[in-house]
Amino acid sequence: MTQHLTIVDHPLVQHKLTLMREKETSTAVFRQLLREISQLLAYEVTRELPMTPREIETPLQKMDAPVLAGRKLALISILRAGNGLLDGMLELIPSARVGFVGLYRDEETLQPVKYYFKVPENLAERLVIVVDPMLATGNSSAAAVQMLKDAGATNIRFLCLLAAPEGVARMKEAHPDVPVVTASLDERLNEKGYILPGLGDAGDRMFGTR
Ligand code: URA
Repeated sequence: MTQHLTIVDHPLVQHKLTLMREKETSTAVFRQLLREISQLLAYEVTRELPMTPREIETPLQKMDAPVLAGRKLALISILRAGNGLLDGMLELIPSARVGFVGLYRDEETLQPVKYYFKVPENLAERLVIVVDPMLATGNSSAAAVQMLKDAGATNIRFLCLLAAPEGVARMKEAHPDVPVVTASLDERLNEKGYILPGLGDAGDRMFGTR
């Protein structure tokens, strides 16, 4: 993946995203749509995975057939909203290894602080896909990616549902080597850090909290 930003403009993705944005959409429907859309996004973010031939036998003859090369990829969910994207992706890539990064914002320094970090072994040899539905300021995403680099990851992609221009710029500045894949580049952030027009708080909408 060479582009820094990929917007997945597939009609199914855009249709489902519109339904998710609508404020009247229920938690159950939001969750289902997120599951479906995450599979379509997974398709896009894994499009260029390396393949290797494997000799197999069909009922008729032998052939060299392509399979994914190398170590299983690693999906890293940024808690808690990342888990919504993770679930659907795991249905499509069931053998992926999974990690979790938990961050909170220090009220004084406003910097992201790690409270949980558990990731698969051998990150250096895996494609690492970081999932978080909302790329807003980009501060926590950039911090999470740095933690993964510190843990050895060298081949990282960032997958989100919505991105704000501010978040994309922050990621590009901090991690120009990390491609960002999203379903939409929205207009801007509001004064509270919410993406406009956005879809509200992704975690609240998927888990039914407020
Ligand atoms: N996180 C969210 O859940 N929503 C936003 O709009 C921004 C950050």
